[in-house]
Amino acid sequence: MAVDPLIELQGVNKYYGELHVLKDIDLAVGRGEVVVVIGPSGSGKSTLCRTINRLETVQSGTITLDGRPLPEEGKALARLRAEVGMVFQSFNLFAHKTVLQNVSLAQVKVRGRKRDEADRRSRELLERVGLRAHAAKYPAQLSGGQQQRVAIARALAMEPKAMLFDEPTSALDPEMINEVLEVMRQLARDGMTMVVVTHEMGFARASANRVVFMADGRIVEDRAPEEFFTDPRSERAKDFLSKILKH
Ligand SMILES: Nc1ncnc2c1ncn2[C@@H]1O[C@H](COP(=O)(O)OP(=O)(O)OP(=O)(O)O)[C@@H](O)[C@H]1O
Ligand SMILES: [Mg+2]
Repeated sequence: MAVDPLIELQGVNKYYGELHVLKDIDLAVGRGEVVVVIGPSGSGKSTLCRTINRLETVQSGTITLDGRPLPEEGKALARLRAEVGMVFQSFNLFAHKTVLQNVSLAQVKVRGRKRDEADRRSRELLERVGLRAHAAKYPAQLSGGQQQRVAIARALAMEPKAMLFDEPTSALDPEMINEVLEVMRQLARDGMTMVVVTHEMGFARASANRVVFMADGRIVEDRAPEEFFTDPRSERAKDFLSKILKH
């Protein structure tokens, strides 16, 4: 367990009606740590991410961010959402706004920045994700990989304490996957705290401090990447790895 966790879940249980989707989850993510979450479809990976920025409520257990329990509602909840950036499989950009406007919008609305200041920061971030020249374009004029990098820049514009990624490359054509992973690898090197749901084993091996393997709503293994990939302990993980490594 991390000594000074930024994100900590203790005894978390989540149900959808009768369906028990997160079972006694204990997970601590230290500052600057990169945790990759993998596991079969339906094992609860997305639900786990969604509980961390409180897009979903839980029935029992506690979740803390930077030592404080997640807020229930109101302004504190909006602030939490800004503090935990989230990037999904689908890009979720505003179609009728330019790239620059997409990155600036929440800075003005949620962070209360002046337009000029927000735009300046947006340009810096677009530079960082290799898209400075595309600031005036609309999302439909960009490739999927470029749109996903805009989504990352937009999340970073809020100066989050942590970033959650839920299969950020699984909707992309193969040639675009790497440009998104490269941005994520750089973020990891810069010390961002990250929880990343992905089946990109190369990313897990190169950038993760830990791999969390989930099955049926439980954390089955939580280990260093190299150990996990070369010597999975559980039958579930062995079975899962043999399937994905065949591709
Ligand atoms: N809004 C919802 N209402 C009811 N059940 C849900 C809801 N969202 C997810 N579930 C169920 O909860 C379980 C966990 O789903 P979740 O999306 O977290 O899995 P996952 O590990 O992310 O899967 P995948 O790899 O397919 O994305 C599944 O059985 C799913 O059908
Ligand atoms: Mg999912």
